[in-house]
Amino acid sequence: MKRFILLFTAALFLFPVASQSAPKNKKKDSHVVVAVPEVEAKVIAIETEGVQWLLNVDKFGVLRCYHFGKKISDPAQFRDFTCYRTRHGIEKYGDAAMAYPTVGGRYNNEPALHVKYANGDHNTELYYTGHTVSEKDGVVTTEISLKDYVSLLEVSLVFEAWQKENVIISHSEIKNAGKKSVELLEYASSFMPVRAEKYLLTHFWGHWGYEMNVEHELLGHDRKVIETRIGVSATKLNNPSFMLSLDTEEFSERNGEVIAGALAWSGNFKLCFDRNINCLNISAGINPFASAYKLAAGETFVTPDMIWTWSGNGAGQASRNLHAWARKDGVYGGGSVNPTLLNSWEGAYFNFNAATLIGMIDDAADMGLEMFVLDDGWFGNGEYARNDDKAGLGDWELNTAKLPEGIDYIASHAHDKGLKFGIWIEPEMVNPKSNLANNHPDWVVRSAGREIYTGRNQWLLDLSNPAVQDFVYGVFDRTMQLSDKIDYIKWDCNRVVNSFGSDWQADQDRFFVEYVQGYYKVLRRIREKYPKTIIQCCSSGGSRVDYGQLAFHNEVWASDNTDAVSRSNIQYGTSLIYPASIMGSHVSIVPNHQTKSTTPLKFRFDMACTGRLGMELQPKDLNAEERAFADQCIKAYKQYRDLVFNGDLYRLVAPEEGRYSLMYVSPDKRRAVVFIFKLDYESREIHRTLKLDGLAPGLRYKVNELNAKKSSWWGNDDSWTGDFLMNGGFNPHFYHRYDSSVFYLEAE
Ligand code: DGJ
Repeated sequence: MKRFILLFTAALFLFPVASQSAPKNKKKDSHVVVAVPEVEAKVIAIETEGVQWLLNVDKFGVLRCYHFGKKISDPAQFRDFTCYRTRHGIEKYGDAAMAYPTVGGRYNNEPALHVKYANGDHNTELYYTGHTVSEKDGVVTTEISLKDYVSLLEVSLVFEAWQKENVIISHSEIKNAGKKSVELLEYASSFMPVRAEKYLLTHFWGHWGYEMNVEHELLGHDRKVIETRIGVSATKLNNPSFMLSLDTEEFSERNGEVIAGALAWSGNFKLCFDRNINCLNISAGINPFASAYKLAAGETFVTPDMIWTWSGNGAGQASRNLHAWARKDGVYGGGSVNPTLLNSWEGAYFNFNAATLIGMIDDAADMGLEMFVLDDGWFGNGEYARNDDKAGLGDWELNTAKLPEGIDYIASHAHDKGLKFGIWIEPEMVNPKSNLANNHPDWVVRSAGREIYTGRNQWLLDLSNPAVQDFVYGVFDRTMQLSDKIDYIKWDCNRVVNSFGSDWQADQDRFFVEYVQGYYKVLRRIREKYPKTIIQCCSSGGSRVDYGQLAFHNEVWASDNTDAVSRSNIQYGTSLIYPASIMGSHVSIVPNHQTKSTTPLKFRFDMACTGRLGMELQPKDLNAEERAFADQCIKAYKQYRDLVFNGDLYRLVAPEEGRYSLMYVSPDKRRAVVFIFKLDYESREIHRTLKLDGLAPGLRYKVNELNAKKSSWWGNDDSWTGDFLMNGGFNPHFYHRYDSSVFYLEAE
């Protein structure tokens, strides 16, 4: 230490102080402070029929948020809300509850926005410059303009308030209004400061065949990040959605305040929960991992939508809000009923010819199903014939050795039998063993000079490249030309991004973001030409379950795991955020191909009927009694499926309790269907009461158990009031593991 002081003193003699005080390359006037105009403090209320998001503009022009939740009568009362002493004692209200905080200025925590300017500066401070409000078809849109007076960067925060659904969708638009390009290092769609004493975070994790496990976690004073960096199949491990229960340590379906959020993005995402001394800051957006986004002068970056809701009545209401919005806006074709189907995959895999398919179609028609879907294996020729998963992806011509009769022959047979027809594609992928890989190595996602790893023997095509976008669009378009009787496309995607890089991109940092934008561009083109085609988003099962792709797809394949016990978990988790109408849910053969477990056919059917019912087996493997039972279940499903697709979901018991129960109620509360599944064995002498939910207390419902020789409830086939059923009168009894029941309720 002493030596340092000596050296420093010597330096003072050698170099006059004045010449040392101005750092190199900096002009002397660099500390002239740019004036920020003061504004009139105000509250901007973004509200629906039951939810309010209040944004305060303070007198310095900083946008803050002190309330998201129950509607209060006079929002202006929040205008002078104060947080007393600010953190670190920073003046001008410091960083209290900033609505879209940026790196720099008074803010030190996880930001919504981090910009690096051409001169190396990392500071951005956004100030309110104005806002507009407009209304159309029950949606009020508020756009708040913010500006950094030094860099001239502009940010627009856009909020769509869905009045009846109680959902608020928000995103940001970041404009580089300066003269030099800037780098976006963080660029969240949305940010929300929440103030409570306890925060219980519910989020989703999983893997292939094990998707959407629900995890509840009490947040400490720390930063919790939920993210993915796998680029595509992005929801395989985590889902870009969550629920947050406030002031409680217990997740409740019916009680307490819950905030739910879901990001509409099908690629790398990041949800950050940053708990500090006075609040929890939630930021949600594209994951900037390897994706610093350079914004040229004049360019605007539009972030994806973040969908928010709030419930004062537990998680159940939060889900119902999201589902109601999804049916209206979030899901393509939401609100319509998708057909029941037989899918060829588990029944035939790659081993089929026209006779196999015709046989399956005939059986599907006999059982009362409404569509047949030809899965993988119909394309590729010669050495690249798709007879297993090792070759053929990319070569989307009909496999003439396997199906010389052509697709139209199969599709026409389906139509003749009264069925719709669907077909599988996986257009973003290529097997190294394919003509496409030979002809277009430059289209493959890869890092120059490095090995391109395969996953399921396949590589990923670089959808950030417009030529690949045209190709992928062309695969869909050409497949549709194979027959004019194609009603449904199953779009698969079976690997994640590795060795990422693009031959086409000049700036590799754009790859991850532009891949997803490219995917959406293709889907937009497809929807322009094929508005009526039903499209399923499949990605090794449920690896692409998000509201980004759902704007273009009618449904998802919730998991490759068709075991009904596993499905109780997967579909329960999915239902927290996404509606039942999107969940492709199939009855398969036992022992189950994924888990090797055996469950009764009734249990498998009852579970599949909680979503969009399908079958995924060779019908010839069912005996006559099983076939008759299948007919009966399919018929019964058609009687109540409008409730599954468009009713309100009430979750009654979560699978972690060894039982699983849920019900769907019609909007007018006159009809309902209740599902109950026994997942674990417990003493026969336990008599549990199931409190139904969502019924009208004063209505009398005729209760009718479906698909059962003997009812599990003493009160079956009689009429009961809603309040009796909801308050302790309903106690069906189960003896065995994998017993299940479906009750249909109709008001008299
Ligand atoms: C994975 C999907 O999830 C399955 O349903 C099936 O379509 C296979 N791919 C086909 O390769």
